[in-house]
Amino acid sequence: MKITGTGSAMPSLAVTNDMLSEFLDTNDEWISTRTGIKERRIISDETLTSLAVDAAKKAIESAGLTPNDIDYFLCSNVVNNFVTPSLSCILQGEIGANCPSLDLNAACTGFIYALDIAESFIQTGRAENVLIVCAEEPTRMVNWKERNTCVLFGDGAGAVVVSKGDAFKAFHISTQSKIEPLYYQRKLEYNPYQSHPDGDAPLIMNGKDVFKLAVSSSVSDIRNVLEKSSLNADDIKYYLLHQANIRIIDTIRDFLKQPDDKFPHNIENYGNTSSASIPILLDEMRRAGKFTKGDMLLFSAFGAGFTTGACVLEWNM
Ligand code: COA
Repeated sequence: MKITGTGSAMPSLAVTNDMLSEFLDTNDEWISTRTGIKERRIISDETLTSLAVDAAKKAIESAGLTPNDIDYFLCSNVVNNFVTPSLSCILQGEIGANCPSLDLNAACTGFIYALDIAESFIQTGRAENVLIVCAEEPTRMVNWKERNTCVLFGDGAGAVVVSKGDAFKAFHISTQSKIEPLYYQRKLEYNPYQSHPDGDAPLIMNGKDVFKLAVSSSVSDIRNVLEKSSLNADDIKYYLLHQANIRIIDTIRDFLKQPDDKFPHNIENYGNTSSASIPILLDEMRRAGKFTKGDMLLFSAFGAGFTTGACVLEWNM
């Protein structure tokens, strides 16, 4: 499998840390030094669907394909305002594709999970071109009175087209069932036979536990895929890590003893956009001409579950 197209779309409204301090007991100094975030994009006039469609169309166009060329469509999404049908069904119609579509929810690791599934489809000959769209609006999951969570997130969509090729060298994905560190619980309709009413909790997070799990799992996943692909840390041109906290990225970099410029980031502009963060960064870097054919890239992400995943690929666009 290889990446043949990328795209992204962000909400127009940029909300700075100072804007948050107008209604929250917080400040730019705390948010910047603890997280690296200066501002985030938040859905206002747009919808998640419109962003996802925009990102998907750009990815298909940059691959030099049309929607008819897509054989399978995977959408990574944690929440949107439709429980059913899936977001991928809605997008498939908007894009004008004519292929099966499927949503997956592996939280912030969804992009790596989707790549792993796409590779199976391509390897087994089920598909030649797979469209992956990661579309996320975590700002609709948080309690906007909780300063320890709402300042961290932003909305956005990133997409890639993957096609037949031999660019991907190794994958490692995992799930450890640990709910307490990070979860969001929705109240459903009642049926008359229920004895235990549902809970209802906007995003709950134990930041310190998530921080430690993120660093340890990401370092271990990165070492795993380096070993599987017979590479060492120095061979990687860029590590594109899930953009959750610049201190998490810096700590992982320290473990790997690699220079700062190998760890590109845009968390300062977008906050944590969940599974969309790596494809958005990838698209920005491609459009800025940062990649050369033959560059080795490593993606690594982690999220609620606790899910984690990493993969290594050779850039070929
Ligand atoms: N503004 C100002 N103060 C804040 C604040 C905010 N937005 N949020 C929390 N605080 C306060 C806390 O109330 C606490 O005050 P106290 O000491 O008086 O109780 C203090 O800051 C320190 O909080 P603490 O939780 O110890 O900070 P931290 O150094 O662990 O940083 C996170 C908090 C959330 C930034 C950090 O733990 C983190 O990034 N964790 C990972 C989160 C993540 O990546 N989630 C998504 C995974 S996909």
